[in-house]
Amino acid sequence: MIQKQKGCNDIYGREAKIWKYIDTVIDAIMEKYNYTYIRTPIIEATELFHRGIGSSTDIVTKETYDFVDRGGRKISLRPEGTAGVVRSFIENKMYGDPSLPLKVYYNGTMYRYERPQSGRDRELTQFGMEILGSDDPLCDAEIISLAVNIYKMLGLKEIKVNINSLGDDESRLKYREELIKYFKPHIDELCEDCKERLEKNPLRILDCKVDADNKLIKNAPKTLDYLNEESRDRFEKVQEYLDVFEVKYEINPNIVRGLDYYNHTVFEIEAKVEGFGSNNVLGGGGRYNGLCKQLDGPDTPCIGFACGIGRLVTALELEKVPLPIVEDIDLFLLYVNEEEKNYAAYLSQELRLAGFIVETEYNNRSLKAQFKQAERLNAKYIAVLNSEDLNNNEIKIKNSKTKEEEIISLDAIIYYLDEKLNTNLDDEEDCGCGEEHECNGNHDCGGNCHCHH
Ligand code: HAM
Repeated sequence: MIQKQKGCNDIYGREAKIWKYIDTVIDAIMEKYNYTYIRTPIIEATELFHRGIGSSTDIVTKETYDFVDRGGRKISLRPEGTAGVVRSFIENKMYGDPSLPLKVYYNGTMYRYERPQSGRDRELTQFGMEILGSDDPLCDAEIISLAVNIYKMLGLKEIKVNINSLGDDESRLKYREELIKYFKPHIDELCEDCKERLEKNPLRILDCKVDADNKLIKNAPKTLDYLNEESRDRFEKVQEYLDVFEVKYEINPNIVRGLDYYNHTVFEIEAKVEGFGSNNVLGGGGRYNGLCKQLDGPDTPCIGFACGIGRLVTALELEKVPLPIVEDIDLFLLYVNEEEKNYAAYLSQELRLAGFIVETEYNNRSLKAQFKQAERLNAKYIAVLNSEDLNNNEIKIKNSKTKEEEIISLDAIIYYLDEKLNTNLDDEEDCGCGEEHECNGNHDCGGNCHCHH
């Protein structure tokens, strides 16, 4: 039997419904914040990631899927979305648009050749957002609060926002020197990769997975102590705007992020729910003012964020967030003979096009087995089509829960189901939002709950 590749997942059934639901919430909120959807290729020139993400980052040195295509080009599967978005921004001259900043979002598959473990896949899906063309600290705060609002709208409560600042080029340079000074006398205590990183890119020592528990790293100098005045003021401004957006956050000087393109604000959002394990960072991002220029574009300040959908689904499941996932059908049509089957086919199409979720039998099972099938599919109503009834323009329809049975005119079936199913909405479970009013989209569920208080 051929099996899926290590670190890849088949997503189906209830889990796939959750993924689709998340996508709808993302699309809805991104529209409100006026971000437009962008789709860039999964394959890009390998050079884009070397120059963009940084040639001494773990992602580039160990984790990209690289190959040479039939035309001899060096290609990589994208490990993240930001570099591709910036490439597209430059290539399509979006920087010339007078309405900058450009606010875009994406939702797609990325590939990282990592050691597979819970929360760390080789094929992963990220949704991400980028603002290109503004250095306003308001953008930093908007991106962070938007990320938080998406998690809140999905119903997550147990999250924590960690922010930090790496400062501008001058501050980063000063910090780099301090790191080299600090680590140099202890070089033998570092892993082989970190020994190499020391001169090339000492910041990367701080997010080394091998040395993660090394006390030396924990006690290393912190970026915030090396910010120049301008960078410090800027970081304070970001915090002021975060307060305006009422975002709760913690300043965590250990956040340095694993990609080279960052400066100034960096942040990560953690899931705090019990049982998550160590890969509990739901998403992260930051400002990357130098990247566009580094990729031969104009000097363009940018900021962005990305979230792994797989980890988000895990958080929703662990927090037991009630989700409006449809796990039942409105009506199951049962039949015995060919004439009834034809009518079942006709009626199912009519009712589906009228907006109901309708199923019928496809495997010519016995009537008894069809009842079982209707039960398995959680059919709210079932109707046994019967030639005699049909000739009288009638249908017998049964409520699976109350067992109440009625004979109605076939002409009235749409009205009947409409009335019954709408009335039954009152019986739907409370989504847990705690609101006593009709859902108006202003509370945590984002208007996607089934509240009909
Ligand atoms: P990142 O921190 O590398 O940032 O990834 C963002 C999120 O993607 C992580 O927090 C995690 O949820 C998810 N993720 C990353 N790797 C894996 C994996 N192997 N398995 C499962 N989930 C994973 C970026 O990618 C930046 N491009 C974010 C950004 C956008 N910065 C500015 N703009």
